[in-house]
Amino acid sequence: MNIDGKHYRTIWLHPHNRAVIQIIDQRLLPHEFKIVDLTTVAEVAHAIKAMLVRGAGLIGATAGYGMVLAALEAPQHDRAAFLESLARAGEFLSATRPTAVNLAYAVQRQLTAIRAVETIPSMLDMAYQTAALIADEDADFCRRIGEQGIALIEKIYAHNGGKTVNILTHCNAGWLAFVDYGSATAPIYAAHDKGIPVHVWVDETRPRNQGARLTAWELGQHGVPHTIIADNVGGHLMQHHQVDLVITGADRVTRSGDAANKIGTYLKALAAKDNAVPFYVALPSSTFDFALRDGVREIPIEERGADEVMYMDGVLSDGTVTTIRITPADSPAANYGFDVTPARLITGLITERGICDANEAAITALYSEKV
Ligand code: MRU
Repeated sequence: MNIDGKHYRTIWLHPHNRAVIQIIDQRLLPHEFKIVDLTTVAEVAHAIKAMLVRGAGLIGATAGYGMVLAALEAPQHDRAAFLESLARAGEFLSATRPTAVNLAYAVQRQLTAIRAVETIPSMLDMAYQTAALIADEDADFCRRIGEQGIALIEKIYAHNGGKTVNILTHCNAGWLAFVDYGSATAPIYAAHDKGIPVHVWVDETRPRNQGARLTAWELGQHGVPHTIIADNVGGHLMQHHQVDLVITGADRVTRSGDAANKIGTYLKALAAKDNAVPFYVALPSSTFDFALRDGVREIPIEERGADEVMYMDGVLSDGTVTTIRITPADSPAANYGFDVTPARLITGLITERGICDANEAAITALYSEKV
């Protein structure tokens, strides 16, 4: 995607040093655009945990590249020691954030690919190849989600007499959450690029404000009309027919179609159901967890520090970025990062292979290798 007219992905190898990974520090957006070098597994783990990088797809791609650094850091003269060191690094990276399954998926994919080759130099090559494959696949899957999902927007556009299609989204499932394109935003970008008038209601997404800070910035960079709303506005808008379609992303989706996504998504799905607004979840196949069925019981929900609820970052009129406390100093705060929307509230899933109902039969019809 473009930033001030220049194409960027969210993660890449340093052009002159293959032992350095480069990312955009998303904690600083939209106030500052800063590229950060990651040179060790510990730095990669910190970047994921502290959310310099975030979003299911990008966490996965970062873990993929983290395993390259793990291969560079591992003992280089003994295959067993090399693999043992890599497995430890994989566990360390997997433990950084629990909800998005793309993280464990990328680590496992790296370990499987690396174990399949013999010599240490070829294992190192394999780590590089697999990291690139995970990243390229992520971008390609998101592009294809756009190709699939645009049909939903086109249909609404045709039915509403050519009026602007109003789409509500929650959090940031845009290109910043992946390697490129995004999941929930890919159909929106595709429709906008095709000349279909779209307008996006952007939930601010407390406490970290990924909607207000990141989705709004992305959409603005791409020229897509949008309006930031406080988190509790969506239900009101739906009651007043100002939302034609909801598209969110997902951090983990079970084989039965229950979807974990940023906290607050469940309430939007309830409001959408009550107002007969179609509610779609967009995801690449790496976000499915085929080992799970009951999302509410089985998907681990990340709890983060209370400070994220108590403090906010913002920019002063002189341009200085600062942090302020918005709560009483001694009131406790709880910070649940995600919730699970049960499949019965989801109209459909938009995947790179097509759009399907949120139930096991429909999902495994698309992913027949997972039956
Ligand atoms: O905590 P984050 O920012 O990593 O959360 C991820 C999200 O932005 C959302 O839950 C998103 O909709 C799914 S990630 C593609």
